[in-house]
Amino acid sequence: MAVAISRRGDVEPFHAMDVLAEANRLRAQGHDVVSMAVGQPSDPAPRAVIEAAARALRNGRIGYTDSLGVAPLREAIARHYAEHYGVEVPPARVAVTTGSSAAFNLAFLAMFDAGDRVAVAAPGYPAYRNIMQALGIDVVEIELHGAGHLTAAHLAAAHRQRPLNGVLFASPANPTGATIPDDDLAALVDAAAERGIAVISDEIYHRLCYVGPDRTALALGDGVTVINSFSKYYCMTGWRIGWMVLPEALVRPVERIQQSLYISPPELSQLAAVEAFGATAELEAVKARYAQNRDLLMRRLPGLGFRLAAPMDGAFYAYCDVSGLTNDSMAFARRMLAEAHVAATPGRDFDPFEGHRTMRFSYAGSLDDMTRATDRLEQWLR
Ligand SMILES: Cc1ncc(COP(=O)(O)O)c(C=O)c1O
Repeated sequence: MAVAISRRGDVEPFHAMDVLAEANRLRAQGHDVVSMAVGQPSDPAPRAVIEAAARALRNGRIGYTDSLGVAPLREAIARHYAEHYGVEVPPARVAVTTGSSAAFNLAFLAMFDAGDRVAVAAPGYPAYRNIMQALGIDVVEIELHGAGHLTAAHLAAAHRQRPLNGVLFASPANPTGATIPDDDLAALVDAAAERGIAVISDEIYHRLCYVGPDRTALALGDGVTVINSFSKYYCMTGWRIGWMVLPEALVRPVERIQQSLYISPPELSQLAAVEAFGATAELEAVKARYAQNRDLLMRRLPGLGFRLAAPMDGAFYAYCDVSGLTNDSMAFARRMLAEAHVAATPGRDFDPFEGHRTMRFSYAGSLDDMTRATDRLEQWLR
């Protein structure tokens, strides 16, 4: 029997998952491993979210919904833009998705054809590159060389070399935690608009910025596609629920593709997520703990040889230059896990060019975890 295997499926593995599997193996053997490898809040979803889900389960049938999501959630998301950003968004331009991961699929399919060229930053979140590659889109990785974030100048230079069809950026970003300052964001969106380059803004780490207020790229024009999620600030990774705010002309194409690809996002998670915007007090307490973790890592990591390679403005990551310790961050991460029982992610996942000398630490865990991890690293490196 012939087994068909496409070239499209030949994307890079997510190396962090290998570290995670090894951490789990060590834990199963009874070792006390501190994991800072995965970008996932250690807190559960807010109480009101869990109660809404329990009510929905008790009330009975969980079924398909409108492809673009249930009206109360689309309305709650639209209200969030008015309340949090002062930006008016009609609920009709909101598409609820199965996590932001599904939103990427939908956006890429609705916006680009195979062979189109889309720019992303290196380092950057690996799924951007992997999903686009699988879809036959040409990924143009713009190396930041420590610049922190993508700028209008980067975009203009890449476009001059060969015209781009799209650009995708995140602020705050994974893995760097860097945010794009307001003026630079406006210049980047303007530079894209002038050149006919479509913009996707991944705002999944909004509400997790420690240095200033959030600014949505939507404030800069209705033509921007914004992607967001309940996974990070709202502590709902496993609920697989996110959203997009679309330019008018993309609503129907996204709806058509979603109908066939996913039918609808999960109803249970949609009904629960409506409550997430009301849980601010609870979620700000979680964020305050991240801020403590961040202070501790900013203070301790550089002294251990993990030089901060980015400013830690937001999200919950410390992205470190480990070139003083190793030239092979993958092997180093393996040894660190095996010997110090601290798991972090080697930079190779985020940056094919410079990742051999970088590592990412997630500080979404407890303050106690951060203290234990840094104490162990200090002893190990000594
Ligand atoms: C920058 C960024 N975007 C998107 C995602 C995907 O999140 P989800 O599919 O859970 O919404 C992640 C997850 O780590 C991420 O870091």
